[in-house]
Amino acid sequence: MSHRWESRLIATLAVLVAGATGCSGSNGKSYGLEMPSDGGLDACSATAGMPDEGNLPSKETRASLEAGQKTFRFDTFGDEAFWGDTLKLHRAIEGEAHGGVGPGVSPKTALSVGLKVDVDAIPGEVARDLKAGLVNLEDPATTLALLQLNAVVGVTGFFNDDKTLKSVGIQCALCHSTVDDSFAPGIGKRLDGWANRDLNVGAIIGLAPDLSAVATLLQIDEATVRKVLASWGPGKFDAELILDGKGMRPDGKPAATLIPPAFGLVGVNLHTWTGWGSVPHWNAFVANLEMMGKGTFFDPRLDDASKFPVAARARLGHVQNDPDLVTPKLPDLHLYQLSLASPPPPAGSFDAEAAERGDELFEGKARCARCHVEPLFTEPGWNLHSAADIGIDDFQAMRSPDGKYRTAPLRGLHTHMKGGFFHDGRFATLLDVVNHYDQFFMLGLTDAEKNDVVEYLKSL
Ligand code: HEC
Ligand code: HEC
Repeated sequence: MSHRWESRLIATLAVLVAGATGCSGSNGKSYGLEMPSDGGLDACSATAGMPDEGNLPSKETRASLEAGQKTFRFDTFGDEAFWGDTLKLHRAIEGEAHGGVGPGVSPKTALSVGLKVDVDAIPGEVARDLKAGLVNLEDPATTLALLQLNAVVGVTGFFNDDKTLKSVGIQCALCHSTVDDSFAPGIGKRLDGWANRDLNVGAIIGLAPDLSAVATLLQIDEATVRKVLASWGPGKFDAELILDGKGMRPDGKPAATLIPPAFGLVGVNLHTWTGWGSVPHWNAFVANLEMMGKGTFFDPRLDDASKFPVAARARLGHVQNDPDLVTPKLPDLHLYQLSLASPPPPAGSFDAEAAERGDELFEGKARCARCHVEPLFTEPGWNLHSAADIGIDDFQAMRSPDGKYRTAPLRGLHTHMKGGFFHDGRFATLLDVVNHYDQFFMLGLTDAEKNDVVEYLKSL
């Protein structure tokens, strides 16, 4: 069944339910079937067919969603002990003129490595000055002012009394949020869950004056660490580096993977490109092992020294901190992430008629829906495949416990057209993806049919 038809059916049912309970005059909000983006539900929809105390979502659920959003956007889990105190990244941000080292990071530099600025955190008069070109975007002091306003998405500055930087920490939003550019390129309203495909994580970490802690963990020299970081490029990160120490692929290409979206994950079983586990597993993993937050993490699969020599040596599958700054936040964070729906494609961004034909092909001749099952666009159940199933090499798959690739859920592809497709961006365009499948599965698609499938993918 086409998912469009299905959503029309759901919408019709919703209107019928609302009508039956006297909730006619639609105010454009949903009827309790989906969360409006502001997290609020009108009184009518909340009570449709429900006893009063059955309000959906309950007060507790709303509070939990709000707490989860705060965690996603602002919580460092104490990771400033690593990014600031150990790597001294804050000193590189300040620059010599403000008590740090080097030239410092001006807003211009920060934007050029893909950092984003939250316009809602900027007071009106500063925004006016910015628009008028009265703010010096070449001066690291401006970056410090933005950090003080908590306006840099995914980065928190910790300040001394004399307004110099004491430390700096990072959040989930660093990689999994961007902005809508409504104020200026790189400056706008937050878009939580969107992959930041401009963000050059390797270049940012590479700014740190002291990478000896990473070199020691990986048992390589600091120059090699810097070379590996420089190889990643925009929109990529290598979550497995600190587990297996593989800086490069055997063919000499970068080993980093693309940052995936963190929206549209509800109903999806296994997560990450290689299916490491559930969302709560990965959230705990990232907060403790990648961000270096101070929590608890348990995963005995990391004791496999042949696959994960670094993790086994450092006992990364057995992390314990007291106090635990991560675990108490995981339930709310999980709920918030599941609440992030895939944004619909912008009007006019695809050819609707071609997409309708592409929908038929996706389920029919192109046989995509064998794996990308609507409306999840991944398999309900065990959603992993061997590299041979999809006709690519197994380098990245073999860096995970199951040695497989996860069927990528395809909704919201239009939000990450930068950086390419598949885990490492090996296919520059959606047409390249379709051409690959056409060849590998010997589908015999015509050029027009390939185009229809691409338009369908753009419509998801
Ligand atoms: C430094 C960048 C970075 C940060 C910070 C980060 N992530 Fe990720 N995230 C990634 C990358 C890269 C992947 C893909 C990893 C892989 O497949 O090996 C990923 C994968 C995920 C996935 C799986 C998505 C899917 O399609 O299944 C989730 C969920 C997720 N991250 C949530 C979080 C949360 C929650 C936080 C904060 C606790 C966080 N991430 C912090 C880069 C980041
Ligand atoms: C045998 C199962 C299978 C079939 C059949 C299949 N896919 Fe996939 N698809 C996958 C897997 C697994 C991945 C993840 C690849 C990776 O991580 O590199 C994927 C990835 C993708 C991506 C990249 C998503 C992203 O975020 O980069 C697109 C687009 C896609 N598939 C479209 C299609 C289309 C179109 C078809 C039909 C022509 C199709 N797939 C057929 C399993 C399948």
